[in-house]
Amino acid sequence: MEKICYLIAVAVLSVNCFALYPSNTDEEALLAFKSGISSDPYAILAGNWSTNTSICNWIGVSCSRNRQRVVALNFSAFNFGGIIGPHLGNLTFLSSLDVSSNNFTGILPPELSNLRHLEEINVGFNSFNGEVPSWFGTLPELKRILLNNNNFASSIPPSLCNNSKLQTLQMDYNFINGNIPQEIGNLSDLESISVKYNQLIGSIPFGIFNMSSLRVLDFSANSLSRGLPENMCTNMQKLTGLYLSLNQLSGEIPSNIYKCRNLEGLSLSYNHFSGSIPSTIGSLTMLTRLYLGINNLKGMIA
Ligand SMILES: *[C@@H]1O[C@H](CO)[C@@H](O)[C@H](O)[C@H]1NC(C)=O
Ligand SMILES: *[C@@H]1O[C@H](CO)[C@@H](O)[C@H](O)[C@H]1NC(C)=O
Ligand SMILES: *[C@@H]1O[C@H](CO)[C@@H](O)[C@H](O)[C@H]1NC(C)=O
Ligand SMILES: *[C@@H]1O[C@H](CO)[C@@H](O)[C@H](O)[C@H]1NC(C)=O
Ligand SMILES: *[C@@H]1O[C@H](CO)[C@@H](O)[C@H](O)[C@H]1NC(C)=O
Ligand SMILES: *[C@@H]1O[C@H](CO)[C@@H](O)[C@H](O)[C@H]1NC(C)=O
Ligand SMILES: *[C@@H]1O[C@H](CO)[C@@H](O)[C@H](O)[C@H]1NC(C)=O
Ligand SMILES: *[C@@H]1O[C@H](CO)[C@@H](O)[C@H](O)[C@H]1NC(C)=O
Repeated sequence: MEKICYLIAVAVLSVNCFALYPSNTDEEALLAFKSGISSDPYAILAGNWSTNTSICNWIGVSCSRNRQRVVALNFSAFNFGGIIGPHLGNLTFLSSLDVSSNNFTGILPPELSNLRHLEEINVGFNSFNGEVPSWFGTLPELKRILLNNNNFASSIPPSLCNNSKLQTLQMDYNFINGNIPQEIGNLSDLESISVKYNQLIGSIPFGIFNMSSLRVLDFSANSLSRGLPENMCTNMQKLTGLYLSLNQLSGEIPSNIYKCRNLEGLSLSYNHFSGSIPSTIGSLTMLTRLYLGINNLKGMIA
């Protein structure tokens, strides 16, 4: 293919031949990835990922129109089993990688840190293990990181707080432990953070309540302790969901809770909150789900 392409290029002095054939590097990378797949119950590899057709015709592979480089992979729910080898890191133009709802195991190889254009990575609902990669923090375009329902076991790497474009961070149902990094408040574009059903300890860094872009904050079912800042809602105008149930949080429910006026869901149950329930909760007109049970609270909602 390469030779023919070259001859055509010489014959008509055209560089357009690059538009006809995808890059060999991308093809090699995908063939290597294919060889890491050990289970393929829908027979996608045999039936569709044929080597006598361009990789850009493979189901789940999207190429850029003019340069025929792989820009997106979406193998969501293909029921693939196996590992993700290092070669995927050679797909230099990849901006979106979605391998969610498969049966992948092993680690996310460090070579993926070569994917400088990556904006979204979704590896949710697999059996990945190892640490949450600290190299996420070196990928300048990352907007969405979804790792939920895997076996990741580490703390949240502080380097993640360097991802200035990060909008969504989901790590539910893993073994995430340790303290939430203090610099989490650096993520000024963050809209949604969800780390429920993990093993986080320590206090919630107050900087998180300074993120005015935040809509959803869910740290339910961890071992977080200590209190919430008194001025919790001063800068959280966009917050629609605050879920902190099933922790060991204590102190009083901040009285300025009424300033989070877009709150639709508020869940603080199964903690050690004490004092009285701020009567101003009654002025949260959008609130449709409110859970405060199993604390040491008293008082009535006005
Ligand atoms: C693979 O499937 C896609 C989508 O169904 C289709 O467009 C493509 O032609 C198929 N490729 C091969 C080689 O069968
Ligand atoms: C690819 O080659 C195989 C034989 O090796 C053939 O059966 C199949 O039809 C070919 N597919 C395409 C899309 O040309
Ligand atoms: C991948 O495909 C699934 C199913 O078609 C879709 O729901 C999902 O949004 C796609 N992922 C990305 C990142 O576009
Ligand atoms: C692709 O990546 C692998 C493993 O990281 C490396 O050994 C190989 O040389 C690379 N291939 C190309 C064509 O860049
Ligand atoms: C996932 O893989 C394991 C073994 O590696 C196997 O026992 C299990 O059935 C697979 N699950 C699915 C949903 O394919
Ligand atoms: C954040 O990025 C800066 C600049 O690239 C770097 O010096 C620093 O070490 C990074 N912080 C972490 C925690 O990785
Ligand atoms: C967080 O922001 C502070 C102040 O802007 C900066 O000094 C620090 O390096 C940042 N940390 C990370 C991990 O990005
Ligand atoms: C929140 O931001 C304000 C103004 O930028 C700053 O003065 C304050 O110290 C910040 N609070 C926290 C807890 O980071």
